[in-house]
Amino acid sequence: MSCPSLTQRISQLKKERNAVIVAHNYQAGEVQDVADFLGDSLAMSKYAVNSQAQVIVVCGVHFMAESTSLLNPDKTVLVPDLSAGCSLAESINAEQLKQWKTEHPGAAVVSYINTTAEVKAQSDICCTSSNAVRVVESLPPDQEILFLPDMFLGNWVRAQTLRDIKLWNGSCHTHVRIRPEPILELKKLHPNAEFLMHPECGCSTALMHTADHILSTDGILKRARASESKEFIIGTENGILHRLEKENPQKKFYPATQGATCEFMKKNTLEKLLWSLEDMQYPVRVPETIAVKARAALERMMRLS
Ligand code: 13P
Repeated sequence: MSCPSLTQRISQLKKERNAVIVAHNYQAGEVQDVADFLGDSLAMSKYAVNSQAQVIVVCGVHFMAESTSLLNPDKTVLVPDLSAGCSLAESINAEQLKQWKTEHPGAAVVSYINTTAEVKAQSDICCTSSNAVRVVESLPPDQEILFLPDMFLGNWVRAQTLRDIKLWNGSCHTHVRIRPEPILELKKLHPNAEFLMHPECGCSTALMHTADHILSTDGILKRARASESKEFIIGTENGILHRLEKENPQKKFYPATQGATCEFMKKNTLEKLLWSLEDMQYPVRVPETIAVKARAALERMMRLS
């Protein structure tokens, strides 16, 4: 239960600062409950672009704030905790990408949005889990593609598109904890449950054909709302359960793995959010030399959605 004085102070400061709070679907419930907007990576970026607010507090992980800042160069973008990183974004740096490109001259680079601005700046186009197939299909059919950094998402996109995709060997440390065995057990216990899986899941290669739907976090939320099913097995970070349960009180949601909690996503708390608005901390801004190229890769993706 959140403390009323904290939430009241946050809402008062939001007005004073002309600020909005944009939160990812994996945030702690107390943070989700004070957000002006909740969404997946793509929806967060779109919302920020269309917002009239001058200050955008991004409750998610660092690359989400960087993307928001890249797409909103005239706005102040803040994060409540600068150490909220992302294991996927850490799994490849600009030097490694440069080297990979020299091994595949002529290949197009498709970077998942879970990358640093330096890596985006070396990429042709970005994608998120909700548009990765569309992004790859927008490239010429015989184009060799370097897909990074998530091998599970990349493998799923390759299976959907049958394109010549080379995969970087990266993964999300939380999604790799989601293994096939407990899911097969849950399916036996709840035979009528729909299985909704995020493409970053470590089980995605083995269970791709058994999932009812492979979706982004917003896709999972949308499907749960629209489906006639009363029970669901959810294969993604468990922060999403807060919103799933709140929006569908009559339905049951079983996490594929109890341990699928991202400690970086949970670094943002109500207190840190309040301090962020009080002290205008911590601003995220990408140096312009990198921003120009990184923005181009992001905007190419945004034009497709
Ligand atoms: P979505 O874009 O599906 O919300 O995924 C973001 C993410 O970081 C998953 O780990």
